[in-house]
Amino acid sequence: MAPRKKIKIAIDGPAGSGKSSTAKRVAEELGYLFLDSGAMYRSVTFLVLRDGADPHDPDASRAAAQKARFRFKRDDRGERVILNGEDVTDVIRTPLVTNNIAPVAANPAVREILVKKQRALGKNGGIVAEGRDIGTVVFCDAELKVFLMASIDERTKRRARELRARGIPVDFDRLLHDMKRRDQSDSTREHGALKIAPDAVHIDTSELTLDEQVAFVVEQARKRGA
Ligand code: C5P
Repeated sequence: MAPRKKIKIAIDGPAGSGKSSTAKRVAEELGYLFLDSGAMYRSVTFLVLRDGADPHDPDASRAAAQKARFRFKRDDRGERVILNGEDVTDVIRTPLVTNNIAPVAANPAVREILVKKQRALGKNGGIVAEGRDIGTVVFCDAELKVFLMASIDERTKRRARELRARGIPVDFDRLLHDMKRRDQSDSTREHGALKIAPDAVHIDTSELTLDEQVAFVVEQARKRGA
């Protein structure tokens, strides 16, 4: 049998499409590094807000991206995001941060800095990275690119469940509105917009279980030598 390769796997899709849960489990099964690129954009937004700066100020968000040092670790609570030595896993998922990401993620200087960090993490392969521009910008050479999709209703239900499980109250219609707005800004920004790479495998997750999604991606990865 040919020795297994350490490939790069790019998983892109809109909010709530199941990227994180799928990517995390695929990384575990293959013994690969899991990279949540959204956590980086969230962390930079968190730094800007905590400094009392304006997320629309391009210099403030560039400075925050420059000073951000990331560490990702897995412990008994799951994947943790450590930003400049502080565990920010939960705080970066609050609605305040989520609703202020768009101008930060649209800033080309921020994207350039974060894309460089993402590439450095994946330089030796053996990585499952998820986000919006992984297959189209960050790892254009990924051996496996997956684009996950699900209906807006299904994605909003999933996000509502996640927030409620963390004790955050949810107004469904408001969340639906926020998700639509985020889809719009993610797919229309000039840099790093959410696009389907022409060589991506497309999966609609509306009717699939997490186990089915994971099994499918692992099978595709094995076919490519992982
Ligand atoms: O995936 P998640 O919902 O955590 O991402 C948060 C936000 O970060 C997205 O709405 C998007 O604007 C931004 N993002 C991005 N590029 C990525 C990943 C996330 O612009 N590769």
